[in-house]
Amino acid sequence: MKEFLNHLKFVLQPEVDKVINHEFLRRLSNKELDKNQVKKFALDYNFYCQCFPQLLGYAAGKIKEDKIRMPIIENLWEEHGEGDFQKSHRQLFLNFMKSLEISGEEIEKSKPTKATKKYITELLSICENGDALDVLALVGPGTEYFASKEFEVIYKGLQNYHFSDNLDLSFWSIHIEVDDHHYSDMLKSIEPLLVTDSDKKRVEQISLKTIELEIFFWDEMNKYII
Ligand SMILES: [Fe+2]
Repeated sequence: MKEFLNHLKFVLQPEVDKVINHEFLRRLSNKELDKNQVKKFALDYNFYCQCFPQLLGYAAGKIKEDKIRMPIIENLWEEHGEGDFQKSHRQLFLNFMKSLEISGEEIEKSKPTKATKKYITELLSICENGDALDVLALVGPGTEYFASKEFEVIYKGLQNYHFSDNLDLSFWSIHIEVDDHHYSDMLKSIEPLLVTDSDKKRVEQISLKTIELEIFFWDEMNKYII
């Protein structure tokens, strides 16, 4: 298992680096965006944020054993503010948008860009058509593996902006704290499902595909926010 995980890291790292060092995140970090551009980014990212619990829900639904399902349930529980709705990650993202002075009407009227719609549709399609291992690969090595690092880049970048006195960045900071343990817990779920070499190959392929889709998402975001 350890050997496979090292191999997986080796294979995924170049793609992960493309996300962490992405041109759009660099522009965001270098304070190159104006308030309108950050608002556009937030309104579009909101659609991905909304879909994330659905991805976890698929993963939970595809797993047959309680013990293997537990890390996903814990993750979903945290997504829902551990029972405190005010701390639900959707609510935290809403707080972020409101602190950017995005109105409820703007949020209601917003539609995902064509690219973001495609990104979300493809993620959901992998989940719909895949089995437990596919879905765990998507949310584990394909997402949570580097989410903490990625959110740190976005969080630090957004700290450079002072559009309002109280830019609420808790949505971004909370993921820096929790996502590393999500990943290590998910690996514990994946481990008992890795029986054959083709299982390992599938985890590698789905993880890579998920990260490639995310690179597509940021590439398109970079073109959209000009
Ligand atoms: Fe979250």
